[in-house]
Amino acid sequence: MGGLKSLIIFQLVYITRCMDQLHIVYEWKQLDFEFPTTEARQQAIENGSFIPENNMPMGVEVSGDRLFITVPRWRSGVPASLTYINLKDNSTMSPKLIPYPNWAAHTPRADGKPEIVSPFRIRADRCDRLWVLDSGKINSLGNNTMKFPPAFLIYDLKTDKLLRKYTFPQDQVKDESGFANIAVEDRDCNDTYAYASDTGKPGIVVYSWAKNDSWRITHHFFHPDPLACDFSVKGYNFSWTDAIFGLGLSGPNPDNYSTLYFHPMASYNEFAVSTEYLRNQSVADSNFEAFKLLGSRGPNAQSSASFVDPKTGVLFYSLVNLNAVACWRTTNKDYNMKNQGRIFMNDETMVYPTDIKVDYNDSLWILSNRMPIWMYGKLDPNEVNFRVFYAPVLDAISHTACDITPRSDILDKFVNKIKNVTNKIASKINPNSGAAISPFSLLATLVSSCLIVLTISY
Ligand SMILES: *[C@@H]1O[C@H](CO)[C@@H](O)[C@H](O)[C@H]1NC(C)=O
Ligand SMILES: *[C@@H]1O[C@H](CO)[C@@H](O)[C@H](O)[C@H]1NC(C)=O
Ligand SMILES: *[C@@H]1O[C@H](CO)[C@@H](O)[C@H](O)[C@H]1NC(C)=O
Ligand SMILES: *[C@@H]1O[C@H](CO)[C@@H](O)[C@H](O)[C@H]1NC(C)=O
Ligand SMILES: *[C@@H]1O[C@H](CO)[C@@H](O)[C@H](O)[C@H]1NC(C)=O
Ligand SMILES: *[C@@H]1O[C@H](CO)[C@@H](O)[C@H](O)[C@H]1NC(C)=O
Ligand SMILES: *[C@@H]1O[C@H](CO)[C@@H](O)[C@H](O)[C@H]1NC(C)=O
Ligand SMILES: *[C@@H]1O[C@H](CO)[C@@H](O)[C@H](O)[C@H]1NC(C)=O
Ligand SMILES: *[C@@H]1O[C@H](CO)[C@@H](O)[C@H](O)[C@H]1NC(C)=O
Ligand SMILES: *[C@@H]1O[C@H](CO)[C@@H](O)[C@H](O)[C@H]1NC(C)=O
Repeated sequence: MGGLKSLIIFQLVYITRCMDQLHIVYEWKQLDFEFPTTEARQQAIENGSFIPENNMPMGVEVSGDRLFITVPRWRSGVPASLTYINLKDNSTMSPKLIPYPNWAAHTPRADGKPEIVSPFRIRADRCDRLWVLDSGKINSLGNNTMKFPPAFLIYDLKTDKLLRKYTFPQDQVKDESGFANIAVEDRDCNDTYAYASDTGKPGIVVYSWAKNDSWRITHHFFHPDPLACDFSVKGYNFSWTDAIFGLGLSGPNPDNYSTLYFHPMASYNEFAVSTEYLRNQSVADSNFEAFKLLGSRGPNAQSSASFVDPKTGVLFYSLVNLNAVACWRTTNKDYNMKNQGRIFMNDETMVYPTDIKVDYNDSLWILSNRMPIWMYGKLDPNEVNFRVFYAPVLDAISHTACDITPRSDILDKFVNKIKNVTNKIASKINPNSGAAISPFSLLATLVSSCLIVLTISY
């Protein structure tokens, strides 16, 4: 019985594709950069400082007229690891990347270290600051790996000047450390907190802007689940033991703290903790139970990046094995398969959704980059490999389980049509009681998904 129920819900959430509201606004076969001159570009290709196929976009962020893209130095030949494109320039869908804040910040000094080494993800806060989490590693997938201490670099987005650089203290960086993701709690611009997830060695490094100090929080919920380490993307099967990765920060709660929703990469589960417990290491250590398990996304549902839209309270997250992005309303009591909405799924265009953001204009941005093919095989330079998706949040969540508008119009319209079928399904699932899943909730799922499935399946 449980099997049938999961099957039906799985189909509803994952097979329907009629509500996908996202539009591809940028796409690239290979990345290219805005070099000072065509000669400089040619020279960079000849001397190996630009190897086009080694450049892969990883993080995305939008602020004002700029869309930022990070290009980590996993392999050699990355000329600039933090770049942007101008959103106002609509002359091409494959614009060249412009180094941020300038080329000088990406030029290696005598010790081989540029000002910005290799950020994976970044965050523009509401106080016009760009927080760059620099992993500090060059060539981590190739020979001659160079390691510098990870750091936060914080830029003023009005002037593009470096406001602050904070290098992580030695005792907060471990041998296996890999800082991949960042969330910024910016309720108070002068008392801002940044959270950096250590995906290599389970931990969160918390930085206080006011104190100019950081500390490291650990918890067993940050660890990878050994039963969730197998991934399969586009025919590539691989095992990753990545720890805490996705960080989605809610808007301020009534107590002025936020809720941090988080999950390890190798895990099906979602967890949450109030930032009250992250802002002080000893408080975190003595309140182990403040970290909560919310629930499971279900089998095969490992997730990388996530993001909470503070206005609607919707948590968006990637589903890397399913080539999909899904959502959950944080006001929902239950985190389970039924309460998750399908935002977008596509086996061509959404292969490895790598970053998700909502900008300050209520729009959702998603970057997909086919990373497993790039890591374990080879990307075809004649195909589109990297895409940026866009939709206003309300459009993206419309007709999904995360829809915040009452949909009584649609319910009324279809209720009579499918009530009988629903009852039939419900009786199949659970002939004795409606406690596990009431016909109404199933009905709502049916309506808020897509009716085509009903016809196909039944
Ligand atoms: C390669 O060429 C670029 C562009 O002229 C130049 O900036 C860079 O310093 C050169 N790198 C090496 C290693 O010679
Ligand atoms: C591109 O932008 C310009 C100026 O912002 C505008 O006039 C033009 O209509 C736009 N073109 C398209 C195809 O959107
Ligand atoms: C690393 O070096 C070895 C030996 O020089 C070479 O065979 C291999 O292709 C190199 N790997 C990369 C990723 O450059
Ligand atoms: C925040 O800091 C800035 C600059 O240090 C100062 O001008 C401003 O008054 C401060 N604001 C608050 C609310 O403390
Ligand atoms: C913050 O602390 C670091 C050392 O941890 C120091 O190098 C830096 O100058 C400090 N910045 C400010 C703005 O106090
Ligand atoms: C890869 O994994 C998928 C799903 O887990 C499985 O169906 C497939 O047979 C595997 N392929 C290989 C080559 O191991
Ligand atoms: C939350 O912050 C606001 C504005 O800073 C303040 O007025 C309010 O008292 C704070 N609430 C709590 C519970 O601390
Ligand atoms: C952290 O909390 C402990 C216990 O409540 C307190 O004694 C300590 O002063 C706090 N540390 C900081 C840096 O606020
Ligand atoms: C905000 O988004 C709306 C569409 O949702 C768009 O019309 C408008 O131009 C955007 N404004 C800015 C500043 O990006
Ligand atoms: C639904 O069931 C009712 C009685 O149980 C029946 O009268 C009605 O015709 C059915 N409607 C459809 C569309 O099958």
